[in-house]
Amino acid sequence: MIILGIDTSCDDTGVGLVQDGRVLAHRVASQTGLHQSYGGVVPELASREHTRVIDRLTEAVLAEAGLSAKDLDAVAATQGPGLVGPLLVGLSYAKGLALALDRPFFGVHHLEAHLAAARTEDLRPPYLALLASGGHTHLFDVPEEGRYLLLGATRDDAAGEAFDKAARMLGLGYPGGPALARLAEKGDPKKVPFTLPLKGQRGYDFSFSGLKTAFKRFLDQGYAPEDLAASFQETVVESLVRTIERAARDLGRDQVVVAGGVAANRRLRERLSGSGLEVFVPPLALATDNGVMVALAAWQRIRRGVPPSPFDLEARPYLPLDRVSHAEGVE
Ligand code: KG4
Ligand code: ZN
Repeated sequence: MIILGIDTSCDDTGVGLVQDGRVLAHRVASQTGLHQSYGGVVPELASREHTRVIDRLTEAVLAEAGLSAKDLDAVAATQGPGLVGPLLVGLSYAKGLALALDRPFFGVHHLEAHLAAARTEDLRPPYLALLASGGHTHLFDVPEEGRYLLLGATRDDAAGEAFDKAARMLGLGYPGGPALARLAEKGDPKKVPFTLPLKGQRGYDFSFSGLKTAFKRFLDQGYAPEDLAASFQETVVESLVRTIERAARDLGRDQVVVAGGVAANRRLRERLSGSGLEVFVPPLALATDNGVMVALAAWQRIRRGVPPSPFDLEARPYLPLDRVSHAEGVE
């Protein structure tokens, strides 16, 4: 079964081709340069750019796999959450293609897609799932496949957003996560006295905006950028991992899936592997936004017997994952 997956939730156009859960081809067109001078993503520009490149990327992945559109068995796209204009570009394109080819269409949740990229055949529920990206920091309990119970979330900034903001204070550019992580390798993670956020809480929430304020203060006090980066990263990682470990103890879980852009962070992977939990993370190339993960989510739905989405499925800028799981294929 060959599935084309498309993600246009933000400023990257991701198109991926998957056969029976295996990656055939994969392209991501980044718009970072386009938005740089504006200091953030400009939705209209993003939509226009997605429209400009989506057909070419689709042709490219098909050509790379030596296939033509007729060989596709299903087409999938991100339904939400994300920017509504950009979402509509990918969703309409995927629906049009599926309709023209008379194939099933799947509208998937962006976070469901991130999770799909980290899952392997070995993973059986129950497990914990942490989604940490530029827009989300959510910890879920997954007692059975397709059911997501929200345990906790960030009260302010997302983990990736915190990395981006700290990187920006050091003039490292956007997205700052990878750049800050690189700089951190040269620094001392114990040098700068950041305090662990929400220490002593009983729940499973996160908070990163205080770290951002502290970062600015320590920077003004003259700490070296590499030590700031290393200590900041260590604190964010420690906060994520300790919360996961506590939830695992409380709920008796021994497996965790970590997905979303921050799952690319090497220190996070390293610290998790020492946690005693069985850890599932996506391959590095599939940690940040891409189309393959959308195709994988559709593939996993098909395998669970979830029916395709209706062709009038709407783009949803706000779409909680715990709601999708119950409405899957029904909406
Ligand atoms: O999932 P993603 O590609 O896009 C969203 O859906 O948000 O995540 C992007 C986020 C950015 O904030 C980026 O800085 C962060 O993930 N990120 C990282 C790393 N690679 C990407 N954060 C820390 N360390 C990394 N290596
Ligand atoms: Zn994402």
